[in-house]
Amino acid sequence: MGTEIAAGIITISDRATSGEYEDHGGPALRAACESFGWGIQAEAVVPDEEDRIQHTIRAFSAQGCGLILTTGGTGIAPRDVTPEAIRGIMRVEIPGFGELMRMRSLEITPNAILSRCLAAIVDHSLVVALPGKPSGAVECLGFIKEAIPHSVKLALRIPTSC
Ligand code: MTE
Repeated sequence: MGTEIAAGIITISDRATSGEYEDHGGPALRAACESFGWGIQAEAVVPDEEDRIQHTIRAFSAQGCGLILTTGGTGIAPRDVTPEAIRGIMRVEIPGFGELMRMRSLEITPNAILSRCLAAIVDHSLVVALPGKPSGAVECLGFIKEAIPHSVKLALRIPTSC
């Protein structure tokens, strides 16, 4: 039987939060999750502020999201603080996710080297930080999707064999 995945999706963008941009990243990730048969439990758009990002991740985890996907803020602009926010509250990072996403993305664009995309365990959730460009976020999710069900089970502490 497949793992039931309840996902939370967080768009991290000052401009999507203020309404200057329409959020395309969140809906693109929602469509991708649904195509994999995963349920969407919660969605939010937050500014590039560490405390807002951390608060939203923790609230989604408390609501039972075994998987939390973020999009945006993984680059090197002064307001890109998503990795710092996640590392400030994580129990452990899982470097293979970031390594795989960058490696596969580099076959598509040399700019992938600029993304500090990562995955980590926060409370009882697997948190995956994806790039902000909607197509890039969906591409990266596609590269790691096979590893997600097992990782989510471990994050939720559901007994499972490795
Ligand atoms: N990865 C993939 N697969 N596809 C992309 O288009 N864009 C890159 C990179 N990773 C991209 C990608 C670009 S242009 C940037 S600046 C970084 O992700 C960081 O993006 P972010 O700051 O919006 O998270």
